[in-house]
Amino acid sequence: MCGIVGVVGKTEIAPILVESLCRLEYRGYDSCGVATLNSVGVEVRKDVGFVQEVAYRQKFASAHGGLGIAHTRWATHGGVTRENAHPHLSCDGTFAVAHNGIISNHEILRRELRGLGHRFSSETDTEVFPHIVEEIHRSGISVEEAFVRALRRLEGSFAIAMISSRDPEKIYCARQRSPLVLGIDSGRHFFVGSDVNAFLHFTRRAVVLEDGEYAVLSRDGYFVRAIADGRTRSKPIMEINWSLGETEKAGYRHYMEKEIWEQPDVIRRAMEVSQKEIVAVARLMRAAKRNVLVGVGTTYYVSLFGQYLFAGLAGEFSPAFSSDESGELLMMDRETLLLAISQSGETFDTLQTIRQAKADGARTAAIVNVPGSSMTREAEIVIHQNSGPEICVISTKAAMAQMLLLMRMALELGYLRQHPPAMENLDLLREIMELPDLVETMLRNQQLQIRDLAHRFSNRRNWFYLGRGLYTPIALESALKMKEVTYLHAEGMAAGFLKHGTLSLIDEETPCVFLIPPKEAKDLYDLTMGSVAEVRARRGKVIAFAFESGGGKFDEEVILPKASVWLAPLLHLVAGQVLAYETALVLGRNIDRPRSLAKSVTVS
Ligand code: AGP
Repeated sequence: MCGIVGVVGKTEIAPILVESLCRLEYRGYDSCGVATLNSVGVEVRKDVGFVQEVAYRQKFASAHGGLGIAHTRWATHGGVTRENAHPHLSCDGTFAVAHNGIISNHEILRRELRGLGHRFSSETDTEVFPHIVEEIHRSGISVEEAFVRALRRLEGSFAIAMISSRDPEKIYCARQRSPLVLGIDSGRHFFVGSDVNAFLHFTRRAVVLEDGEYAVLSRDGYFVRAIADGRTRSKPIMEINWSLGETEKAGYRHYMEKEIWEQPDVIRRAMEVSQKEIVAVARLMRAAKRNVLVGVGTTYYVSLFGQYLFAGLAGEFSPAFSSDESGELLMMDRETLLLAISQSGETFDTLQTIRQAKADGARTAAIVNVPGSSMTREAEIVIHQNSGPEICVISTKAAMAQMLLLMRMALELGYLRQHPPAMENLDLLREIMELPDLVETMLRNQQLQIRDLAHRFSNRRNWFYLGRGLYTPIALESALKMKEVTYLHAEGMAAGFLKHGTLSLIDEETPCVFLIPPKEAKDLYDLTMGSVAEVRARRGKVIAFAFESGGGKFDEEVILPKASVWLAPLLHLVAGQVLAYETALVLGRNIDRPRSLAKSVTVS
C-alpha cells in the first residue's frame, strides 16, 4: 500500500530518491518523506501531500548524503498528518525507518517501550520499530544484530528499510509478507524498493527478497541473510524485461489513457504467451475435481468472466470467488485447483488464498503481471501475462490480457474435453489475432463520441451498467471503473436481476449503460433487449454499447466495430474504460491517483 525506496551510491542520492519516489507514488499518496545520512547525522524531511508538491516544499532534492531511504504513504494506522508520515525516528534520532505493512503487536510493543522511557511522536504502528532497535542497540551489540533482534519481535507484515548514524555506510532492510526487491546497479548504486519501479530507471537487475529475509546494502555490495538464524542466502539476480519507456507517459495526458491505448499491443503479448503454458494449466484443470478462480476488485471480475468462459467453452463449472471473502467460502483439498489472477502479484487477500490452498493440499496456478512478485514465486504454475508496467491505480490493460489468457485456457480445456462449443470455436484463436486492430479502430472512431456522452452525462450521480451472461462481469467491471475514477455512484449487474428490486431506482435521471451483444448471440441479445425495454418503460436513459443500431430503441448508441460473440465483450470493456476516463476528465478528477485508493493492496 505504501512505497519504500532506499539508495546507496557514490554520489548525492537525494535527487535519485525523489525520482524513485515519484515512480512509486502510485502505491500510496497521502504523504511522503525522505531520510538521508550526512555529516550532521540522520536528516528527515516529510509532509502531507503528493510527492512532487511535498518534495518541492520540503526541498527533498537538496538533502545531503550518499545514502538514504524514502517512503510514500497510504494511511492505515493513524491519520494523514506530517507526524504520521514516514520515515520515523528513534528517540535519539539515530535510527530512521520506512515501513510498509502492519505490525500487529505494535500496541504491546509501544506499552513496553513507554515503560522504558521512550516517547512517540506519531500514531503509527511503524514508529515502534526504530525505538526497539535503539533500545536493543543500547546493550552494545552491532546495528545489524540489533536490527535482526528487533525484527524478531515483530508480528504481522513488514517491508522495512532503515538507516542509522550509528552505522552510516549501510541500508538495512527486511521482508515479511510485504514485498521488497533489491536493485543491483553494480559499481554505481544499490537500491531497495517495494517493487522494481523504484529503480527501473537505473537498472533492470533485481534480487527478490523472500519472507523472513533481510539484506544489508553498502556502496560496495549487498548480502542477504535469514532473519531466523542469520545464515547467508545466495540469491539469483533476475533481469526485468520492462523498458523504461513503458513507465513514462509518452505524450499521453494520464497513465490511464496511455494504458487504455496500449491494449492492442497488450493483446498481442498475451497471445505470445506460449501455448505450452496454457496447456499445462488446462491439463491441471482437467485433472482436478474442482476448479476455482480467484481475484479481487477488477481481478474478481476477470475471474467471473473466466467462470462464464469455462462454462461456455469447456462445459466446466469453475466458480469465481472474491479473495477477500474466500476464507469463509472456499473449501479446498487435494482435488481442487485454485487459479488466482492478479496484476501486482502482491494483493494480500489473493496471496493468502493461494497460501491457504497450498496448506490444504490444493494445486495452484496464477496469472500475474509483475515479474518477481510474491505470487510468481508461490503459485505452482505461473502464467506471466507480460503486459508491461501498469502505473495507473485503475487497472485497464492488465484485465484485458487476463481475460484473453482465460479465454485461451477455456478453449484448450474445452478441446481436451472435446466439448462441442470449443470444437466449434477453434477459429477463435485466429479471431483474437484480429482483436488488436478492432480495439484500435474502436479507440480511434468512438473516443470522440464517448467523450461527448461524458460531457452530457457527467452531472448524473447514479449510473447503471447492465449486461447478460458473459457481458455481466464486464458490466460489473465497467461500473467499478466509473466509481474508482469519477467518484460517482455506479452499479453493475446482470440485466435480468434488475426487475428483482433495482428497477425502483430507475428514472429519467439515471443513465443505464447497456452492453448489447451482437445479434448472432440471439438468446442473449433478445434477453438484453427485454431489459432495455424495462428501463425505457421507467424513462431511464439507455446508453447502448452495441454492434448495430437499435433503430430508436436506445436513447444513445455507440456502435462498436463488429466482433464475434466471444470477443465482443472485450470491446465493451474498452468502451467502458474510455467512458470512465472521459467522465473523470470532465469532472477534473485525479485520474491516475484517485482519492483513497492505492495500486497494490498488500494488507488485509
Ligand atoms: C482495479 O482498478 C483496482 N484498483 C483494484 O480493484 C485491483 O484490481 C485489485 O486491488 C486487485 O489487484 P491485483 O490485480 O494487483 O491483485
